[in-house]
Amino acid sequence: MSAGVELRGVSKAFGPVQAVRDVDLLARSGSLTALLGPSGCGKTTTLRLIAGFEAPDSGHVAVAGQTVAGVGVWVAPERRRVGMVFQHLALFPHLDVAGNLAYGLPELDRRARRARVGELLELVGLSGYERRYPDELSGGQAQRVAVARALAPRPAVLVLDEPFSSLDVGLRGELRGEVRRILAAEGVTAVLVTHDQEEALSLGDEIMVMLDGRVAQVGTPDELYRRPATPELAAFLGEANFIAGEARGGWMETDLGALRVDAGDGQRLALVRPEDLQLSELDDGLGRVVDVEYHGHDQMVTVLGPFGGQLRVRLQGHRRLQPGVRVQVRYASDEVMTFPVSDSKAPAQAFPIQASSPAQ
Ligand SMILES: Nc1ncnc2c1ncn2[C@@H]1O[C@H](COP(=O)(O)OP(=O)(O)OP(=O)(O)O)[C@@H](O)[C@H]1O
Ligand SMILES: [Mg+2]
Repeated sequence: MSAGVELRGVSKAFGPVQAVRDVDLLARSGSLTALLGPSGCGKTTTLRLIAGFEAPDSGHVAVAGQTVAGVGVWVAPERRRVGMVFQHLALFPHLDVAGNLAYGLPELDRRARRARVGELLELVGLSGYERRYPDELSGGQAQRVAVARALAPRPAVLVLDEPFSSLDVGLRGELRGEVRRILAAEGVTAVLVTHDQEEALSLGDEIMVMLDGRVAQVGTPDELYRRPATPELAAFLGEANFIAGEARGGWMETDLGALRVDAGDGQRLALVRPEDLQLSELDDGLGRVVDVEYHGHDQMVTVLGPFGGQLRVRLQGHRRLQPGVRVQVRYASDEVMTFPVSDSKAPAQAFPIQASSPAQ
C-alpha cells in the first residue's frame, strides 16, 4: 500500500492552545479520508499542516511518500503537490472562470494551459463557462470551479475544508457525488473536513474523528458506525440508544427483552441503533409514542417505555404513526454491541445531537 498522506505524531500549538495533539493519519493513495469532529477540534489545522501553511511542533508529515515536514525537513507549500479548497471559497473575483483555473498554471505555455482549462471544465461539467465571472455563478458552480482550480496543477493530494457547507441540502448531495467522481478521475488522495456525519459516512473510504486535537477513532464508515470505540463516538456518528444492564452468560436482561451481548459478565451499556428496533402497534403495549419525526421515506419515533426512559426507533413504511399510540418495541438484530460501564459517562454532552441519552 502506498501512502498518499502520512502524519506521524504530529502536534501543533498556538500559544497556550494545543490545536493538534500527537495525530497519526495514514491515507492510502487515491483514497478519500473524511475528517470529522466538533468545532475547534483541530480539523482545519490538520489540513493546514498537510498543505504546509503551518509547521508542526513535533512529528512528521509525508505527501506521496516524500517527507515534507519533520526534523530538519521543510518543503514549502507550493512545492508539496497539495491543493487546498477552502471553506469560504476564494475564487478571484476579478478573474473569469478560465482565469481562475489558469492562475495556478504559470509554467505551462498558452496552448497547454488552454487545454488543461478545457479539460478541467469538462471534468466539473462547466464547459462553456470560461468567460463567466465568479459573481455570475451559482453557489454549486462556484464550488465546482474552486475544486477545479485546486486540481489544475495536478496535485497528488487535495485537502478540502468543509467544501459543501455553504450549499443547500439538495445541492450538497449532488455535488458530493460529483466531487467523489472527479477525485477518482484525477486519482488524487483527498482529505475532506466536514461537520456533517452523513457526509462523512457516505463519502469517506475512511473516517477519522477528532476530539480536542486528538484522533478519537479511525476506520471505515461501517466500522465507525457499527463498532464505535466509545459511547460518545456512537452518539456522535448517528443516533444511538443506550441501555444499561448486567451481562450474564452472554445475555443481558433489558426492558427490550434478553439481548445477546458481545462481552463477558458484568455491568454493560448496550448500543442500540434506531434501525435495529422494530415497533408494532399493540393496545396493551408497554411503550407509548410521544413524538414522531416524519421523513417520508421513514419516520423517527420516540417511545416512552415503562421504565421512564425514551427510545428512538426508525420505522420504515408509509403510514404515519400518531403520538399517544401504544406500541411494543423489539430488538430486531443479532448480537448487540456493548461498552464497559466505566466508559459510559453521559455520552452526547459534547455534541449537538438529538437523542442519545442513556435509556435509564
Ligand atoms: N492561528 C491561530 N492562532 C491561535 N489559535 C488558533 C489558530 N488557528 C486555530 N487556533 C485554535 O486551534 C484550535 C483548533 O482550530 P481549528 O481551526 O483547527 O478547528 P476546527 O476543527 O477546524 O474548527 P471548526 O469546525 O470550527 O472550523 C481552536 O481552539 C482554535 O481557536
Ligand atoms: Mg475549521
